[in-house]
Amino acid sequence: MRNPAHPDHEIEPIFAQRWSPYLFEPRGVEDEQLRQCLEAARWAASSYNEQPWAFIVARREDAEAFNTMLDCLVEANQAWAKNVGALIITVIYKTFTKNGKPNRVAEHDLGLAAANLVLQATALGLQAHQMAGVNLSKARQTYQIPETHEPFTAIALGHPGNPARAGGDEAELAERDRGPRTRKPLQQIIYADRFGQAAPLVQ
Ligand SMILES: Cc1cc2nc3c(=O)[nH]c(=O)nc-3n(C[C@H](O)[C@H](O)[C@H](O)COP(=O)(O)O)c2cc1C
Repeated sequence: MRNPAHPDHEIEPIFAQRWSPYLFEPRGVEDEQLRQCLEAARWAASSYNEQPWAFIVARREDAEAFNTMLDCLVEANQAWAKNVGALIITVIYKTFTKNGKPNRVAEHDLGLAAANLVLQATALGLQAHQMAGVNLSKARQTYQIPETHEPFTAIALGHPGNPARAGGDEAELAERDRGPRTRKPLQQIIYADRFGQAAPLVQ
């Protein structure tokens, strides 16, 4: 397993195995694997079971569709995402269907669905790289996303490349992939009595 996290406390291996590569092998993802990832997303929890998400999918095998979606990413993301097996643009619905009121946790719920998708990919031996760097107005126009919905992020899915074998213009991507996995310590993010003060639990 390339680039695993080194957690301070024991966690399920899948969490440590997931990471966001820049280097991908230029090959597709099997249709059934893609369906499995999307199915995992479908089963995420959501407020009032609204499931305020949708996913627009472009497979590498369909070069025209793939390039159309690649064009919706910011340039810096296009540079590495051109090699991935599938691209996904995520969409949220920010209104509750049952009463027409604003759903203030739609983004949260999309995040849960995305986490399911990404971890299912990891379980299948793939990796995903999520992106905020999306040209949202272009995505809206390209896919005719209605005003009721918002294009939100993108997710690249594929087979991670081997940094040891990367040469030429891939060397820089390989270098990024070799970098350390870092996280804030628990003491910095877990509070009890007062915001900003580490909880005794983690001291
Ligand atoms: C919502 C979201 C947006 C992100 N946007 C980008 C992006 O536009 N470009 C990029 O290269 N990485 C992007 N990332 C990847 C993060 O940089 C990466 O998850 C973070 O550095 C932690 O690394 P890890 O996923 O390997 O643990 C994004 C991740 C998330 C969850």
